[in-house]
Amino acid sequence: GRYRVISTKPMPGTRWIKLLTDQDCRVEICTEKKTILSVEDILALIGTKCDGVIGQLTEDWGDVLFSALKRAGGTAFSNMAVGYNNVNMDAANKNGIAVGNTPGVLTETTAELAASLSLAAARRIVEADQFMRAGLYDGWLPHLFVGNLLKGQTVGVIGAGRIGSAYARMMIEGFKMNLIYYDLYQATRLEKFVTAYGQFLKANGEQPVTWKRAATMEDVLREADVVSISLHPILDKTTYHLINKERLAIMKKEAVLVNCSRGPVVHEVDLVEHLRANPMFRVGLDVFEDEPYMKPGLAEMKNAVVVPHIASASKWTREGMATLAALNVLGKIKGYPIWHNPNQVEPFLDENSVPPP
Ligand code: GLV
Ligand code: GLV
Repeated sequence: GRYRVISTKPMPGTRWIKLLTDQDCRVEICTEKKTILSVEDILALIGTKCDGVIGQLTEDWGDVLFSALKRAGGTAFSNMAVGYNNVNMDAANKNGIAVGNTPGVLTETTAELAASLSLAAARRIVEADQFMRAGLYDGWLPHLFVGNLLKGQTVGVIGAGRIGSAYARMMIEGFKMNLIYYDLYQATRLEKFVTAYGQFLKANGEQPVTWKRAATMEDVLREADVVSISLHPILDKTTYHLINKERLAIMKKEAVLVNCSRGPVVHEVDLVEHLRANPMFRVGLDVFEDEPYMKPGLAEMKNAVVVPHIASASKWTREGMATLAALNVLGKIKGYPIWHNPNQVEPFLDENSVPPP
């Protein structure tokens, strides 16, 4: 291969490798055992000649790495993630490195995890599972693990982009919830879906579902029974500690909060405090403020369901993300537009046309 492409981690599937090797690239996959590579580790990988890198969201892609990549003759970098808060875009631009991300292929998988966490929290699945395994179940009781009925309740979505809208649809269609959402942009397609579904239910003699676009985020927090955070851009100055003590305080006492975006969007110390003071308030978290750590006390809270940043973890999606990341890097090396550039509001191709793995 004429071009040297590095992947800082082994990635699922083999299609991404074949795409690159078929087009004159030599692929080097880092097999370092430690989970998170340091800047120094990656500098050593880049070496003196490297055309493109596929990296991970746990890595700090700033001026040090982008200038090293430039010196090594590189022009392309892709995160294997839709989020890119680990990438300093100014540093990439300054060094002439094109940056790609992997939206689209993870939309449904991520929304399904947000839905799973919503249900797990509402119906206390993890707590009940632990109770069973501990041998504590000694017979059916009317009060045993009573949770929330979602039907007829309101689902609140903070950020109604691709993931937020897919999640909302699942909750509305699956559980006949009403919608309240907050987004800078109007979610026209989502509104139309809820209207049509409401009419369908009504025609069948059922209670119709409704939607409302909230004027403020506070309105969502006040009115919704289940709130999911699905922001874009997922983490920047405007979304840091967006959910803090004051905002938690306006939520319903028996609400469910789900976060599958980025940990620092939620003030985790405030959240632990709130969970402790409000045992009926429940939370489902895929992301944490200081990943891989949890703030003190969170692990002990029975009203929290916690999973290790696995929202995009389905085989189809992870292979698709690897494929997209490879296409991003390949596109730039071959002189095509990078496949998915995070600065584009709309993806280069319609997400449905992304080749499945
Ligand atoms: C995962 O968190 C991603 O941004 O893809
Ligand atoms: C519960 O198991 C019931 O039969 O109501």
